[in-house]
Amino acid sequence: MTVSPPLIPSKRQLRAVGASVTELFPSAEEPLAKPPVGSSLKPVMGNYGFPFLGHLLTTLVDPLEFARERYARYGPVSWAGGAGFKVVAALGPDAMEEVWLNKDKAFSSTRGWAPVIGPFFRRGIMLLDFEEHRDHRRIMQQAFTRSRLDGYLQLMNPIIDSTLSGWRPRQRFPFYPSAKHLLLDLAAQVFVGVELGPESDQLTRDFIDTVRGGQAAIRANVPGGVWARGLQARKRLERFFLDLLPARKRGDGADLFSVLAHSETDDGLRFSDADIVNHMIFMLMAAHDTSAIALSMLTYELGRNTLWQSRLRQEALNTPVDVSMYGAMDELPLLDQAFKEILRMYAPAGALFRQAIKDTEILGHFVPRKSQIALSVHASMRLPDYWPNPDTFDPSRFENPANRDAVHRYAFSPFGGGVHKCIGQYFAGMTVKTILHGMLRRFEWTVPDGYRVPLTWGTGPMPDDDLPIRMRRVQPAST
Ligand code: HEM
Repeated sequence: MTVSPPLIPSKRQLRAVGASVTELFPSAEEPLAKPPVGSSLKPVMGNYGFPFLGHLLTTLVDPLEFARERYARYGPVSWAGGAGFKVVAALGPDAMEEVWLNKDKAFSSTRGWAPVIGPFFRRGIMLLDFEEHRDHRRIMQQAFTRSRLDGYLQLMNPIIDSTLSGWRPRQRFPFYPSAKHLLLDLAAQVFVGVELGPESDQLTRDFIDTVRGGQAAIRANVPGGVWARGLQARKRLERFFLDLLPARKRGDGADLFSVLAHSETDDGLRFSDADIVNHMIFMLMAAHDTSAIALSMLTYELGRNTLWQSRLRQEALNTPVDVSMYGAMDELPLLDQAFKEILRMYAPAGALFRQAIKDTEILGHFVPRKSQIALSVHASMRLPDYWPNPDTFDPSRFENPANRDAVHRYAFSPFGGGVHKCIGQYFAGMTVKTILHGMLRRFEWTVPDGYRVPLTWGTGPMPDDDLPIRMRRVQPAST
């Protein structure tokens, strides 16, 4: 039997075509808009790229190199075209700081994120602005106190323990799906408080479809399409959480859903039922993909840098820590350095969005109202101006925090900045480090010879394959 070659080109072929097409049709450099007469502002410079598509295909080829080239050519503020839009890029700590601090209240998260994930994560806290955001954040903060984190960790530990004990080491252990599976099980029990089984399986499927909806290439409600499936899944998630809510309100569970259902500020602010549901759906997304990227890329880099892996294992085996206590992982400085280095290299929330709601400026560049702004967190932490050898995994950069902070307050900013700074950053650190600590004590691993993980883009750069690792149990000799 003969097999015909597939008619649909592969992603790699598309990327190659995209690169040459954009090279063949260079578009002229021009200002995004003329600064007001008499102002000392400079224009934002850039170019649209290929008709309609703009630089879309080029950014698919290599978003990091694209951003670094723009930085070298135009500096920290530039614009580029993509699929009918013009997007202003804020690159590097100075530009991002100005947008994050938002002194003039000129940058809206609601409008910035709406075209990216709006229909699927509407009214999630990251998509709220100004006073409303402040009020919601004050309530949500009650769910992230130290004692609450302790409670989440108590729920988390047995699941991590039993999952890692169930992993069967082998030559090609598919790490990425295994990590995602573990994190989804954790989310079902620690976030939502449901037992593993058919209920949590359906929750997981709907959650995955909702996230995929936001990443759909065809961004329209075509029946049977990824977008439409995402919207239907979102509806089922809303129903699911609304049905469970009365029980969570009556109970005193330690899961995040129960905690949000009871959260109240000192002056009596509480969430409406609809907003508890909106926040839960958003929170699952904010926590899941980001933690999966951090855990997977850390495992990958340690599989390539086995000297670092051994050092971390020695630390894990030699330092007695009580993993049931929040803050225990602070006793493991090498693990902390490696975690930070991964967040720097593979920023799990790699691009953030805002929209200018009035004429404003970034670093002295005129940004007109309605400009869509992308903060390139990922590329910013790979700029050689701030990080020597930025593409090399070297956790020792974080040995002395004073050195790092001297470079720039926002040079290391994987959790963002300003009022929307990640509320779950300690939760994320606790989760990823506790899992990795358990792995280091049980397993040794390498990546297959010559293997380089192919990356695609979700919330940030993430594995485009199963991330196979060669895994074996820790040998007594190495303990
Ligand atoms: C390594 C993991 C994580 C990274 C790198 C990360 C990164 C970020 C970043 C950069 C933002 C700012 C978004 C913006 O300014 O537009 C953010 C916001 C947020 N993150 Fe995380 N995140 C992580 C894990 C988590 C986890 C585990 C949770 C929940 C348990 C969480 C919940 C949130 C929430 C609720 C917001 C919105 C905060 C607000 O708008 O006030 N994140 N995250």
